[in-house]
Amino acid sequence: MKNDVKEILFNEEEIAKKVKELAKKITEDYRGKDLTVIGILKGSNIFMGDLIRKIDIPLQIDFMVVSSYGQSTESSGIVRVIKDLDYSIEGKNILIVEDIIDTGLTLAYLKEILLKRKPQSVKICSLLDKPARRRVDLEVDYIGFETPDEFIVGYGIDYSEKYRNLPYIAVLKDEVYNK
Ligand code: IMP
Ligand code: MG
Repeated sequence: MKNDVKEILFNEEEIAKKVKELAKKITEDYRGKDLTVIGILKGSNIFMGDLIRKIDIPLQIDFMVVSSYGQSTESSGIVRVIKDLDYSIEGKNILIVEDIIDTGLTLAYLKEILLKRKPQSVKICSLLDKPARRRVDLEVDYIGFETPDEFIVGYGIDYSEKYRNLPYIAVLKDEVYNK
């Protein structure tokens, strides 16, 4: 697996430091409020696990599974909800946790459907952001790192369902993507 890596963009230490910073900010912003953290699976799994353990206020968690890419590396613009939330979010402060925002289509759609359920507030936290690729106007409240327009893997993020267990964030060798 590691032989397929071309370049490490963010190593384990850098990620841990960033996660701690984000959690500190979230802790301050939500102190005294109830907070529900919603992870968008599967990509946000590892990030969310690390993030919530650094947030120092009581919170609840829930998950959604959505799919916008299928097996390809390009957003289709069509978002499918494969697993919905287990709990009602009416009157709740929602923080959506995502791995990476590319075109923004997935989150714009998700935010829209969640807002219809009358939560108190909806904010977005994404570990990675590729602003150059944005196709819709989307406010992202907490961002870990901005990344160049390259296809990224690791720390929960996949290429064709692989490489999620790389402990760092990386770009793969060209020949791996073209296989
Ligand atoms: P968007 O709808 O175009 O913003 O795409 C968001 C989703 O596409 C993310 O949740 C990821 O699952 C996936 N994605 C976007 N960019 C990458 C990437 O560079 N590597 C792996 N998955 C990506
Ligand atoms: Mg995803």
